[in-house]
Amino acid sequence: MRNEELFLESKKVLVGGVNSPVRAIKPYPFFVSKGQGAKIFDEEGKSYVDYCLAFGPLILGHNNPIIRRTVEKRLNSGWCFGTPTSAELEYAKFITSHVPNVDKIRCVNTGTEATMTAIRLARGFTGRDKIIKIEGAFHGAHDCVLVKAGSGALTHSVPNSKGIPDDVTKNTILIPFNDVDSLEQALKENKDQVAALITEPVIGNAGCILPEQTYLNEIKKILSEHGSLLILDEVITGFRLGMGGAQEYFKVDADIITMGKIVGGGFPIGVMGARNEIMDMITPSGPVYNAGTFNGHPLSISAGLATLKMIKEKNILQRIAETGKNLQKGLSDIINDINLGYQVQGIGPMFQVYFNNKPVWNLDDAKASDADSFLKYCKSLREKGVYLPPSQFECCFVSTSHDNEILNFSLEQFEAALKEIMITR
Ligand SMILES: Cc1ncc(COP(=O)(O)O)c(C=O)c1O
Repeated sequence: MRNEELFLESKKVLVGGVNSPVRAIKPYPFFVSKGQGAKIFDEEGKSYVDYCLAFGPLILGHNNPIIRRTVEKRLNSGWCFGTPTSAELEYAKFITSHVPNVDKIRCVNTGTEATMTAIRLARGFTGRDKIIKIEGAFHGAHDCVLVKAGSGALTHSVPNSKGIPDDVTKNTILIPFNDVDSLEQALKENKDQVAALITEPVIGNAGCILPEQTYLNEIKKILSEHGSLLILDEVITGFRLGMGGAQEYFKVDADIITMGKIVGGGFPIGVMGARNEIMDMITPSGPVYNAGTFNGHPLSISAGLATLKMIKEKNILQRIAETGKNLQKGLSDIINDINLGYQVQGIGPMFQVYFNNKPVWNLDDAKASDADSFLKYCKSLREKGVYLPPSQFECCFVSTSHDNEILNFSLEQFEAALKEIMITR
């Protein structure tokens, strides 16, 4: 069946034809039959260089043979037990020995669960109810963070989801990114009531917004002075910006860290970690409840551990940061040459082109971008065999499979697509 027919059929039995809103490309998405290296192939046999990489987990590209063999080996001995496995121990040792301020971890199934439980943990630890959330950041699809959220919520203009009682969101205080004064004011107005601030260190769910140089350290200091915790949501940045994630990159200390994506090697996972006094609040050691049939699923743990070991042994983060830098430089050169004035923003292997004449430092800046032209650019690139996450408010990623040949091909297509935008603008 062709992509369009598959979508028409899917719409009859899947809400909006998809299982997650970010996949609902207009007029219809392509249906993937396989992935290999930097490319995915659709049911019509067309190939695309993939800069979405399943929204971030596939740092080694598609169908990596080492990860596949590791998972196959695991499958041969059974794959789900509901009792501990020694692999979980090895996995936890790896993470706690590389991520700063993490003595213990708890593995859950998604980034959503990790941030949901991290917030519960911060509330349990501090005995306070309120949290501060950054506008445009995305921490998964659970109630208290679905307020001015990024990613699909922003793309589909549902920043505040229906179905969430005011009683829940009244405890979520919103402030802009890169704005220390707003944090100080929020803490002053809610004295001794704020359990934690949760943020992505780099906002990858409203494009790619970097923190100003001292921002993360300043907010950590202010939060500590008020007895509030810093939850750093490293679901995107964990084991991508450094072995110690954004904490290591920006030299900032968080109280609770959440991770996902890369740490599951392409299988479902969420991880949260903190120092002992905080983590020991979680069941069965303490009174903050967390549980899950699939927590620490053997397939996710084995794929995740193999990925993390490879990242370390083959110095992969340095390699993909270099690839990211080259690609961003190529894109900036094209944009300068054709005088388009758009912003290429990125860090290491993650980047976005904002269709915006000014640099983007927060959600309002991001929303001032020409998101419609961005969608035309994505469509044109798909026709040319390059797949980007289909929204101005997502982030692009590179993997170890994005070699020079792939980059050169991509830059030619980027240039052609940007020139088309320039003509139609
Ligand atoms: C920063 C961040 N936190 C949390 C999540 C939620 O993770 P998941 O989709 O695994 O539930 C995402 C998902 O994109 C994310 O980017």
